Amino acid sequence: MTIQQSTDLTHAAMLGLGVHRPARVVTNDEVCEVLDSSDEWIQTRSGIKTRRFAGEDETLIGMSISAAEKALRAAGVGAEQIGCVIVATSTHPEHTPASAPQVASALGITAAAFDISAGCAGFCHALNLAASMVRAGAESHVLVIGVEQLSRFMDPTDRGTAFIFADGAGAVVVGPSEAAGIGPTAWGSDGSQAHVITQTPSCIGGHAGREGADHPVVQMEGTAVFRWAPFAMAKVAHEALDLAGVSVDELDAFIPHQANLRITQTLAKNIQLPDSVAIATDVVDSGNTSAASVPLAMEAMLRKGEAAAGDTALLIAFGAGLSYAGQVVTVPPLAQE
Ligand code: UT7
Repeated sequence: MTIQQSTDLTHAAMLGLGVHRPARVVTNDEVCEVLDSSDEWIQTRSGIKTRRFAGEDETLIGMSISAAEKALRAAGVGAEQIGCVIVATSTHPEHTPASAPQVASALGITAAAFDISAGCAGFCHALNLAASMVRAGAESHVLVIGVEQLSRFMDPTDRGTAFIFADGAGAVVVGPSEAAGIGPTAWGSDGSQAHVITQTPSCIGGHAGREGADHPVVQMEGTAVFRWAPFAMAKVAHEALDLAGVSVDELDAFIPHQANLRITQTLAKNIQLPDSVAIATDVVDSGNTSAASVPLAMEAMLRKGEAAAGDTALLIAFGAGLSYAGQVVTVPPLAQE
């Protein structure tokens, strides 16, 4: 007996991008109303000036739907064409069910839908899964969403996290294309550093937990990440470039996970990016939105004219796990408002 399978190999690309930025802008001064810190310290150490927190009427699923609708519009793809929905998140408030089927259902999609958890690297992991599915002919169009509502999972008095993390969503439609628009992914993990970024039930009401918190809060050994990321990720960046057969001089944009402006700057230096490469700095306005940060940063660059659809960009994301993933991509078009 022969099991039938697709033998059609095709190119995959991001066909459209959409985002949801919560309406509420939160300044450093507002964060410091309960946090023992200052606007000056936060800007100097992280580059962050503002971030956005979801309001009462903005849920993780609602933000995902909003971003996805724009991505579908930008791609010119109908919901009925989507064969799989992947949501990358660490802040869906329920273990079960996953958020993706509810997002899919609201969009009128009954295709396969599931969540993945790879911390701040979630979007770049999901992009690899989606591109692999499309390339292999398993599905023609896959919706990828990176979304977080970290404001719900933070201790606002924790000096290591309260000023960094934020909320938002970004989505792309991955589908077939004439030329490759998503290069092979350089990815990996280092579970020996699992303790560096955690979100465990034992935090509830614990020494760094919020008394009466209904969800576990994020805890981070920021300095450990800071020592690791700019150096380890430079190697991953070069691996992704080599896999794609693209040199640093051929890049138009560098869109890393928006963890901290200093990490981005040190990483860019370590990769030896030429001055001609535009560098995403959305962390300044949006804070660290974990799995949503790469698509949000891509949208900010397109909106500000720092990058254009069709440009060649290097994506790199890293975080809890520790886990990381990076790929060279063609920047997709943005939905017109
Ligand atoms: O997205 C997932 C991955 N996460 C990241 O990429 C985050 C990476 N890490 C970071 O962004 C940085 O480590 C932080 C921004 C979190 C912290 O910056 P840092 O330069 O590593 O600061 P530090 O923790 O080494 O603290 C430096 C000083 C200390 O004071 P002394 O010992 O030098 O007197 C801290 O007590 O700053 C003090 N400090 C603060 N002061 C004001 C620590 N946190 C704060 C604070 N406000 N929030």
